[in-house]
Amino acid sequence: MKQKDDLFSTWNIKNLILKNRIVMAPMCQYQATKDGKTTKWHKLHYSTRAVGGVGLIILESTGVSPIGRITDKDLGIWEDSQIHGLKEIVDECHIYGAKVALQIIHAGRKSEIDGEILAPSPIAFSKKYKVPTEMNKNHIYQVISEFSLAAKRAQEAGFDAVEIHAAHGYLISQFLSPICNKRDDEYGRDRALFLKEIILSCRDKLGGSYPIIVRISANDYNNGGNEPKDFIQLLSPIKNLIDCLHISTGGIVGDVIMNEAAQIFPGYQTMACKIIKHGLQDIPCISGGLINDALMADEMIRNNRCDAVFIGRELLRNPYWCLHAAQKLHKDIQWHESYLYAK
Ligand SMILES: Cc1cc2nc3c(=O)[nH]c(=O)nc-3n(C[C@H](O)[C@H](O)[C@H](O)COP(=O)(O)O)c2cc1C
Repeated sequence: MKQKDDLFSTWNIKNLILKNRIVMAPMCQYQATKDGKTTKWHKLHYSTRAVGGVGLIILESTGVSPIGRITDKDLGIWEDSQIHGLKEIVDECHIYGAKVALQIIHAGRKSEIDGEILAPSPIAFSKKYKVPTEMNKNHIYQVISEFSLAAKRAQEAGFDAVEIHAAHGYLISQFLSPICNKRDDEYGRDRALFLKEIILSCRDKLGGSYPIIVRISANDYNNGGNEPKDFIQLLSPIKNLIDCLHISTGGIVGDVIMNEAAQIFPGYQTMACKIIKHGLQDIPCISGGLINDALMADEMIRNNRCDAVFIGRELLRNPYWCLHAAQKLHKDIQWHESYLYAK
């Protein structure tokens, strides 16, 4: 009988081999320079989590264009001069045995950057946000090209994978959700078409074996919005283009998670993952949300609720969470030689 996978068993996305099932969730640090470049903070922050034993670190959302950023403190990858700083982070994390992915984003109507902002339909996110320009075909082709060029730069910087940010109410998520995609053209009739064309364009630039992860919001928590079952229909035609789905929820409508606070508990997004994973014939999935207990993370893998578990804020509190998790689960994992006396 095949031995059951657990939190510390290896897995792979395409040819990429990960040493465990622990994924550091992308988390904006708001420490980039005004022109979207890395600072010393990013290097320290990410390499510390690599020393701490994370299998796959996904770097924070990084703009494919200046207006693709959420804020002007976010990282960018819209020009070649931004590659060098990112490469330094990747190289540093590799030294300590972590694999690294870059999350690439266009914020769409949730961009707080000065000037014109874009969206599938001209509906503001809230009263505090600008009314976006409805994207015409030229805007659409331009953004698709920006994603593919950004992905290519990520590959040049040495990232092991790229994650397309199609979650949390940012541009691709806006196309996916019926709440803010009111278009009557082909991008409205097929709300996953924009995502499909972005993936195809990235694939064209990256080659066949490079892993492409897609992060989605599986639930809009709103009447008339997407629910997990909708993603089975939306993504079925393109599931073979996606190497791994990273399942989150929310972000299309402001403050909804806060309003639903009573329903937020460790693992609250796992059922959404299970529905989509099952509905898309066991597509590889990363799931998580409020996970801080090693036993719970391990159970998620052992019972095939997902293929890997993302850990967000717990890794901000405790960069060495994986080392503690291994001890709790009686797994003997490698520590950095300088810390062996503490093991
Ligand atoms: C400070 C902070 C920044 C975040 N930035 C991003 C981001 O850049 N991209 C993204 O997809 N999610 C982002 N998120 C969401 C996290 O990736 C994660 O889904 C969320 O924190 C829930 O996981 P947790 O309960 O383990 O923290 C951010 C969350 C926090 C707390």
